[in-house]
This record gives sequence, C-alpha cells and structure tokens, in this order.
Amino acid sequence: MPSLTVRQLDDKIKQRLRLRAARNGRSVEDEVRTILRSAAAGDEAFAAAAAPDERVHRKSERKSEPTTRRVLLIIGGGIAAYKSLDLIRRLRERRVAVRAIMTPAAQRFITPLSVGAIAGEPPFTELFDLQSEFDVGHIRLARDTELVLVAPATADLIAKMAGGHADDLASAVLLATDRQILLAPAMNPRMWANKATLRNMAQLAADGVASVGPNTGEMAEQGEFGAGRMAEPLEIVAAAEALLPGAEVARSGALVGRHVLVTSGPTHEPIDPVRYIANRSSGKQGHAIAAAAAAAGAAVTLVSGPVQVPDPPGVRLVRVETARDMLAAVEAALPADVAVFAAAVADWRTATNSREKIKKTARGTPELPLVENPDILATVAHRKAGRPALVIGFAAETERLVEHAKQKLALKGCDWILANDVSPESGVMGGDINMIHLITRDRVEDWPPQTKDEVANVLVQRIATALEPRR
Ligand code: C5P
Repeated sequence: MPSLTVRQLDDKIKQRLRLRAARNGRSVEDEVRTILRSAAAGDEAFAAAAAPDERVHRKSERKSEPTTRRVLLIIGGGIAAYKSLDLIRRLRERRVAVRAIMTPAAQRFITPLSVGAIAGEPPFTELFDLQSEFDVGHIRLARDTELVLVAPATADLIAKMAGGHADDLASAVLLATDRQILLAPAMNPRMWANKATLRNMAQLAADGVASVGPNTGEMAEQGEFGAGRMAEPLEIVAAAEALLPGAEVARSGALVGRHVLVTSGPTHEPIDPVRYIANRSSGKQGHAIAAAAAAAGAAVTLVSGPVQVPDPPGVRLVRVETARDMLAAVEAALPADVAVFAAAVADWRTATNSREKIKKTARGTPELPLVENPDILATVAHRKAGRPALVIGFAAETERLVEHAKQKLALKGCDWILANDVSPESGVMGGDINMIHLITRDRVEDWPPQTKDEVANVLVQRIATALEPRR
C-alpha cells in the first residue's frame, strides 16, 4: 500500500480531507488511511476520495447521477501545472470525470499523488508501463474520452503536436486521439512570441485544435510580464464545457431573455488615501452565481467590489469600491428580472474621508465617527417602481442563523434569503464550501454542504423555476 503523510499534501487537499474527516467522524490521519485502503482495494470510494462533490450523506443520490462527460487531461511541465489541481477539481464539480496523464516534466512541479487524490484515480505517466498498457493502453486512453485537454500546454508539447511526434505517453496519445483537443498554453512571453511557437499554433488551429488563453499578466518568473500566463481554471472549464458533448444541455438556457443583477465581493470605505474599512469577503460566491446565471443564458450584470477572483466569463462586470458606488451601479443597471445581493457591503463608513493621510500625533488616537452606509438590498427590495420580480439577499451570521435570517427577510423586504454560517470554525469565509439555508416567506430549506459553484447552480435552477410561471 502506498504511504503518505498529511504534511505532504497541499492546502486545498488538506482542507478537503479535514471536511471529509469531520463528516465521517474520523481524524484526518484515519481518513487518509481509509482512502488509501480503499484505493488499494480498488474500491470506488477512492473515486470519491478528495473530490469536493461527493458527500457521504447523499452518496446514493449521487451514484444514480451518471457522469457521462469525460476529459483526458494532459498536464505538461510548467510552473502553471499547480493550477491543474484546481482545474481537475473544478471539472469534477461539474460532473466531468477526469483522467490525467502527466509528462515527466510535469512531475517535477506537482506530484502524481496529488493529481490522483483530486482526480479520483492515479494519473498515467509512462508510455511503456506494463501495468497501465495492460489495463488501458495508450490507444484506449486516447479514445476513451470526449475531450483531450492539455493544461499547461508547454511550447515543447505544442511543437511535438504540430510535428506529429509520439515519443512519450502525452505526445503518443495526442497523435492517436480522434477527439477534440483543447490547449491551454502557458510559457514565458518570449517563447510564446517566438515565430516557431506562432507557426506551430497556427498549424494546430488549422488542424482543428482549439485553445484557450494564454492571458497577459505577471509571470511566475520575477520581473517577467506579458502574454504567456495559463488561462485561469474557470476560464479553461468554460472553454472545455463549450466543447464537450451535451454542452447545450449543460447550458440549460433556463434564463434566456432574463436580466440577472448580482452584487459580489466586499466594499472598501476609505478613511484616508491609504487606509480603508473592509471585510473578508472573497467574492467567490457572488462571482459563481453570476457565472452560473450567464451559463443558463441570462444577461448578467455583476457589480463587484475589489476581489482577487477571476472575472466570470460572459458577464457585464462593473467594478466599484464603496457602498455608495455599488448602490449607484446597481440602480443604473436596473431594470432586472432578478437581483442577487451577495456582496458583503460595509455597514459603516467614516463620516469624513480625509484628503491627507491621518498622522500619528502626540494628541493621541484619532476619533473616527462612523455613519451608516445605504442598504442596497433593502433599497432595491422596497422600490415601488422597477423592483425586480425576485430579490434575493444573503445573511452571513455567526449564531442563531435561521432566526436572524428570517428577521432580515422581513426587515429588508426581499423574497429569499440564503443564510450561511460564517463563524471561523465553518471555514466558509474565503473557502470553497458553503452551507446554506434557503429562507423564503413560507419555508426554510437546509441545503447540504456544497461548493460555492454548486450553490450557484442550484440557486440558478431555483430562480429559473420561480420565474417560469410569470413568463
Ligand atoms: O445586514 P446584512 O449585512 O447582514 O445583510 C446581508 C444582505 O444585505 C446581503 O445580501 C448583502 O448583500 C445586503 N446588504 C446590502 N447593503 C448593505 C448591507 C447589506 O445590499 N449596506
């Protein structure tokens, strides 16, 4: 049986393991042991091992859901390989089964162990590995998928593909496959701009190979800037989904013709030119809702405070800083059929915004009187004219969740509240998992722990159903 210590795992997997262990009432070490035992026994539980989407308490329900979409992910050797772990997770969240191949260079950046733990099965690494050739074989690997995704696609892999080489497992599979190939190139800007790479990419495009990115920005190497950064995992997922069979089904079109307005992220309230009041919102949930609504065909306006998460594809993004800016942007975006207020708006701002940096003085600590910010949700929900048909708020609470959320629903005049526990123990703030209670005027629903992307998808489906009769 392979051995593994918890220390060797990266933070994302550790977080998954902790959650899984807590759910199963085991220590993290025991959870790892159980996973490895299952893996050694070829048990299907391994497939659920570090996967974010397999919840023990609804496993049977999950089992009946066929995972029909399959991606073969070829991980090339570049610093961007670390993003492939998140990419696998994001694909699996969307019910896409991922089988991975790692080039020898990729294994210098991330380990087959982490890839295997997240993908649910060990990656393939060798062309002439007796075991895997016997089990699957590179020809079957090449065919037994709906999409071959290369991420990161290095300059070398791209050149090999363009030249039809087949001297290792990755290139042999790429030559043998008759499936759609999607590349996510990642390399140094000078390598990307090199005529040889441009020639190879043009050849591959002419051969029908699709690509996403690279993006322009800061490179991992210090001081390097330009085009060459691998596209973000969510951008790659969106490109992959568009190429996978059944993409039309995945994009249900349930919100075609609707305008969905979403607020996301924190607001920053300046105290002086260098200081501000803010909160810990990451924007992950709001952005996921905007992305899910866009995927369902809605026209989406996303009004976002300052966040680090990538811009969701296919939405109109309005960046704001303060609560007052956010309210103005929201009002300017109306009318909308639905408004989802996922932003964590700062409740207060300082009464005055000092034009100069406030200095430390011998006179002691400065007094900073606060004034209340406008409540954007309540303002929109109480509108007489032009109120969206469905106004949805969030309630982040650290105690007596449902009770407080019910009061908030009444007070703010919205139709639904999604209440979530943001106590430090929950790991919700900034994390990927959310535990939601949906509170409407007449009922409370407890949703199981889900990723923020899953919450977004479920919410979008619910919105579509709620809007239907009014069409
Ligand atoms: O009052 P509280 O901040 O808990 O309310 C949370 C809900 O209200 C969220 O949906 C949030 O986006 C919204 N809100 C707002 N404007 C504010 C404060 C909160 O839209 N100033």
